[in-house]
Amino acid sequence: MNKNLRKTVIAGNWKMNNTRIETKKLISELIPLVKDASCEVIIGVPFTNLETAIEMTKDTNIKVAAQNCHWASSGAFTGEISAAMLKELGVEYVILGHSERRQYFGETSLTVNQRLRAALDNNLKVIMCVGESLSDRESGITQNVVAIQTKIGLSNITKQEMKDIIIAYEPVWAIGTGKTATSDQANEVNKYIREVIASIFDKETADKTTIQYGGSMNAKNADELLSKEDIDGGLIGGASLKSEDFSKIVFATK
Ligand code: PGA
Repeated sequence: MNKNLRKTVIAGNWKMNNTRIETKKLISELIPLVKDASCEVIIGVPFTNLETAIEMTKDTNIKVAAQNCHWASSGAFTGEISAAMLKELGVEYVILGHSERRQYFGETSLTVNQRLRAALDNNLKVIMCVGESLSDRESGITQNVVAIQTKIGLSNITKQEMKDIIIAYEPVWAIGTGKTATSDQANEVNKYIREVIASIFDKETADKTTIQYGGSMNAKNADELLSKEDIDGGLIGGASLKSEDFSKIVFATK
């Protein structure tokens, strides 16, 4: 089964949640709960909690992600954080192109690609998010939208670099809404994204790429979603803020 060719990754996307005190509490609960996980476990925390999270997870199987980085190495970009700054802290992953960045902060596939370049150049691994809106889906252009986001996002990336890139398929209509894509709907788009990756690089690279699903994944529906051939993990928002729920998802990967 091709699923064995790629790693399964469960990543929490905390978004703009958790103060330092809350971060310490959640991570101390998570460490014992997920220590025997067979999949890779990542938590994506706000910039202000990165140092705390990295320190606390140092000798554990939990990896830490930032939720964005800028494309320039330094300069007059008030409010931004560079990939080198994240690397220096010991950050391993960065989430890029999340639909909330695209929707509220003017992120485009082109700027996602620039940020991705900067992340890889600084030896960070990337979770790149793609996904259609409700009106895209209703207009029947889901495949076109995810293909464009994937192709532009990955332009000028080599196939060797794909080993450091995870794709997260997150239909915008399913994020934070409680409306999960059915496992078949999610699997169908993940499979299609894999075909797009094969068309950019080759089948072998596509078969090795981890493609997560995200959007209202929770302790109850994770088993079903993660049992699908092309769903190699999850990017979890709301349910990642509760240690019990997040760990149930981690163990749903078997
Ligand atoms: P959700 O968020 O699990 O709360 O729907 C997922 C995400 O935005 O990554």
